Amino acid sequence: MVRPQPARKRLGQYYTPPDLVDLLVERTFADIDAAGDWAAWLPTRPVRVLDPACGDGRLLERVRVELHLRGYSVDAVGCDLDADALATVTHPRTRTFHANALEHDWGDQRFDIVIGNPPYLSQMAKETTRGGSSKYGGGPYADAAAEFLALAVELADADHGRVSLVLPQSILASRDAGPIRRRVDEQADIVWSWWAADQRWFDAGVYVCVLGLRRPAAGRSAPMAWTRVVTDVLGIPELDPSTLTTSGTIGDRGELNANFRDEYYALVPAVGEDIDGPPLVTSGLIDPAHCMWGERRVKFNKQFFQRPRVDLSQLEGRFVDWANRKLVPKVLVANQTRVVEAVADPEGAWLPGVPVTTITPTGSGGDGDAEQVSRTVFEIEAVLCSPVASAICWHLGGGTGLSARSVRLTPSVLADVPWPAGDLAAAVDACRRGAVVEAGRAVLDAYGCDDATADALLTWWIPGLPTGGRSDDATAGV
Ligand SMILES: C[S@@+](CC[C@H](N)C(=O)[O-])C[C@H]1O[C@@H](n2cnc3c(N)ncnc32)[C@H](O)[C@@H]1O
Repeated sequence: MVRPQPARKRLGQYYTPPDLVDLLVERTFADIDAAGDWAAWLPTRPVRVLDPACGDGRLLERVRVELHLRGYSVDAVGCDLDADALATVTHPRTRTFHANALEHDWGDQRFDIVIGNPPYLSQMAKETTRGGSSKYGGGPYADAAAEFLALAVELADADHGRVSLVLPQSILASRDAGPIRRRVDEQADIVWSWWAADQRWFDAGVYVCVLGLRRPAAGRSAPMAWTRVVTDVLGIPELDPSTLTTSGTIGDRGELNANFRDEYYALVPAVGEDIDGPPLVTSGLIDPAHCMWGERRVKFNKQFFQRPRVDLSQLEGRFVDWANRKLVPKVLVANQTRVVEAVADPEGAWLPGVPVTTITPTGSGGDGDAEQVSRTVFEIEAVLCSPVASAICWHLGGGTGLSARSVRLTPSVLADVPWPAGDLAAAVDACRRGAVVEAGRAVLDAYGCDDATADALLTWWIPGLPTGGRSDDATAGV
């Protein structure tokens, strides 16, 4: 039964397509087979299986078939908030019950396999928000799917229980799901995962991943970084920051912040083409160590501009202060890209568009040593336009981008990029000549990166640059 769109959205009712049902169940069983865990459950009782948001019960049915093939009997339990959906569960021996799984009292019930594709329910939308609270410690913007993940892990038998869930990929790195990731890490190991770049499986229009977990979490020195679900598939080299020679982080060098919707709307009446005022530099105009203002057309408020400027006299109220605070020496970072694209504005001449993250070095507001501030601006540009920064940002934020192949460069992700302990003069010099690859190599030296890691990082990073490294060839030819 397919409900009208508003009800589907409110319930997160987007059923799992058959190919994904197969994948989820086959991978779950392959893991149990490979671990030889059947022996632990052997038939003193049926295998207990739960889908806490079962819809029409398709996952439970597929698990039932797989268990029967192996000669096991099944106790299948399906819960759903929608009684009409439960009425479509066909197998007579599936025990269904009508409840809100997140509020239901599960007592001491535990299951060998918890499988599902829970409702995601974005907390940014009015129809689907739960109003901020999280039973499992998540932040107010953690999707309901994160709550279901915590519930599923709790309901899996602490001895060998498996959890296999289809989840929105944002679960891997979003800030508000962080406490739930940490909670899950204490109880279970991610033993397999699946993620397909560029493939949207649901008409809900969300990128998804699949996580397979096993309880208990045991015998490991550190839990797997969740973003590896994405970075391994994309071939982003692993990078252990403790192998680098570092001195604090970018966050220690200045203040990071991003513009939001309010700034956007404040800019709308003030932006024009042949007017006086500072250039408006949007994300699309930021290339690594190069600003494309005047060279590339850009769209702002549904209009194209070749040379957008901001008439400061059109800004009102607090946005006048905002503009003054931004018109200082700084670095601008494009918001969603394959590799980090940052550009220095040592004169403080540009106004950043929305969404652009800015990094303003300490002392930039006129109260510091101007030469030192300018040096720091160029150093931040060089560090960010390096393969190390790009890899670290992916490992911190992979899965949060609007497209599968871009990473969202929020102030908090950028602030955590470690600062290299070595000298950055060569890197700054190369950046200022537009030789981004040469600068990247110099920053790797400043981090004391070993040759194998440096080669792996460069091999991944260079093709991701907007120029694919060709601007360096041009520079070398001059
Ligand atoms: C993405 S669908 C998945 C259904 C099925 N498991 C599948 O794989 O096709 C999510 C289901 O969760 C149900 N649901 C939404 N909120 C729920 C809640 N709080 N407790 C239990 N079920 C819920 C919806 O009615 C819907 O059937």
